[in-house]
Amino acid sequence: MTTSELDRYAKSLIKEAGRRIRHSLGSDLTIETKADANDLVTNIDKETERFFVERIRRDFPGHRLLGEEGFGDLIEGLEGTVWILDPIDGTMNFVHQQRNFAISLGIFEEGTGILGYIYDVVNDELYSAKKGEGAYLNDERLADLSETAVPESIVGVNSTWLMPNPYLDHEAIIRLVRDIRGARSYGSAALEIAHVASGRLDAYMSLRLSPWDIAGGFIIAHETGAIASNFRGEPANLLEQDSFLIANPSIHQTLLDRYIKMKAQ
Ligand code: IPD
Ligand code: CA
Ligand code: CA
Repeated sequence: MTTSELDRYAKSLIKEAGRRIRHSLGSDLTIETKADANDLVTNIDKETERFFVERIRRDFPGHRLLGEEGFGDLIEGLEGTVWILDPIDGTMNFVHQQRNFAISLGIFEEGTGILGYIYDVVNDELYSAKKGEGAYLNDERLADLSETAVPESIVGVNSTWLMPNPYLDHEAIIRLVRDIRGARSYGSAALEIAHVASGRLDAYMSLRLSPWDIAGGFIIAHETGAIASNFRGEPANLLEQDSFLIANPSIHQTLLDRYIKMKAQ
């Protein structure tokens, strides 16, 4: 199968999963907590991941899937073709707002991201990218990011990191929020990365993200020129939880040098 055929398959799978999620809106949800009281998962997160796993196992028995809810495979390396899926990114928004959540999917071949998708289910907005062929919002190509500077930037940052914490120099983050034009927090890492890809945000950072939060967006944002790294400036980690910064290329290094200071652990 060619990459274009795989792209068409993945898009139709995502759209079908999205239709199922839209149909579920308004019906009773089963809500459970995971790591803590604010870490939510619903029956729809689980059903959506199962839907992808069943289809991929049926149609691509040689492919592997890493999914947040654990119905896929145990993945320790990115050999072969690997699908990295967050069935619902922004579950808290899904539960409380019935919007501002997305399906996030990245497809990797021998460790290289070849196809990326973020589907804003409620607004029927599909961000997608094929490596080397640009990024799209539905059928419209996203423009390359244009130059900006910190004082003209809007940055996605979680308010948690403005409070004293053991990991990050919060004073430096407060300085960042003062220096930029505006700070935003949407509650879906995938949508925030999509916003960086489209230039609606100039940067997004998070101290702790998992591979499924970033896999789709990482591929899409790369196509419009965004730079991704962890807080130490190393390549983004697609196998383990890590810090994550994605930014317009004209401010990425400045953010690392001036504002993001990890505390010694
Ligand atoms: C979460 C969202 C949130 C981010 C968290 C993620 P989930 O994903 O992306 O914006 O701050 O770190 O875990 O749990 O809704 O899939
Ligand atoms: Ca997530
Ligand atoms: Ca999720």
